[in-house]
Amino acid sequence: MKHLIDSTDLSVEEIDNILNLAQNIIDNKENYSDVCKGKKLATLFFEPSTRTRLSFEAAMMELGGNVLGFSSADSSSATKGESVGDTIRVVGCYADIIAMRHPKEGAPMFGAMVSSVPIINAGDGGHNHPTQTLTDLLTIKREKGRLDNFTIGLCGDLKFGRTVHSLIKALSRYENIKYVLISPKELKVPDYIITEVFEKNNIEYREVSTMEEVMEELDIIYMTRVQKERFFNEADYVRLKDTYILDETKLKYAKKDLSILHPLPRVNEISTKVDDDPRACYFRQALNGKYVRMALIITLLEHAGRE
Ligand code: CP
Repeated sequence: MKHLIDSTDLSVEEIDNILNLAQNIIDNKENYSDVCKGKKLATLFFEPSTRTRLSFEAAMMELGGNVLGFSSADSSSATKGESVGDTIRVVGCYADIIAMRHPKEGAPMFGAMVSSVPIINAGDGGHNHPTQTLTDLLTIKREKGRLDNFTIGLCGDLKFGRTVHSLIKALSRYENIKYVLISPKELKVPDYIITEVFEKNNIEYREVSTMEEVMEELDIIYMTRVQKERFFNEADYVRLKDTYILDETKLKYAKKDLSILHPLPRVNEISTKVDDDPRACYFRQALNGKYVRMALIITLLEHAGRE
């Protein structure tokens, strides 16, 4: 059984295969319209989502399969005290594959330990979001034509932003990527990313506190929102939420071929005036998320079918 819990569960070769399959789906949509006929995807979202849940559901529908599930813990038997383990065992009786989001770090991994069908982590707390990483990698590959040899700035809430943690871990296996970590001191990347990813692999990184001081050297800027739901203290959130706003003035110092990514949802971090700039990739990125999830569903179901 192959699950996707962490972005490093996939080797570089497996990631490249999924990205190539996603590109093939984009180029030949008609060839994939019934490859999951008769299969069911369950989306178990114990935490809110727009893109991840709906793109998973659209992905399965475009593959000819069906979807079932819930979009909040309130509408599931979790409110009656049912454990994640029991929920997963039961849903495995109804569905062939499960995409699960949960506010507790490690919940999808625990689900995978008792599951009879593949489990996909659709985001667990402030920890990981591996399908957003596949989305980001497909976007970088389509925008830049490569997954190596660039300088990426990651900006905003690098402490609680699970998409940042997953992306750094996945990209660390590709050649000659330089990282610029742009955050207030309260929202720096967790120490384990510094020691276990950057230092252990001799990867070049810098921590800075303003966008302006690094903008001209970036090939990619990955903006993130401050994760309100992970703060213990409302006053701290209010103080930090608008630390970084990417606008036309700041972009004057950027490269002509900069790629601006954001996993979305956006709050204030990117001015809407930037949306029409050809360097703004974030809505294309959201669309890529559907195609890469189609490729992932096919890959995991094929693997499960061989077992
Ligand atoms: N990027 C992302 O995970 O968005 P949602 O929270 O809307 O799923």
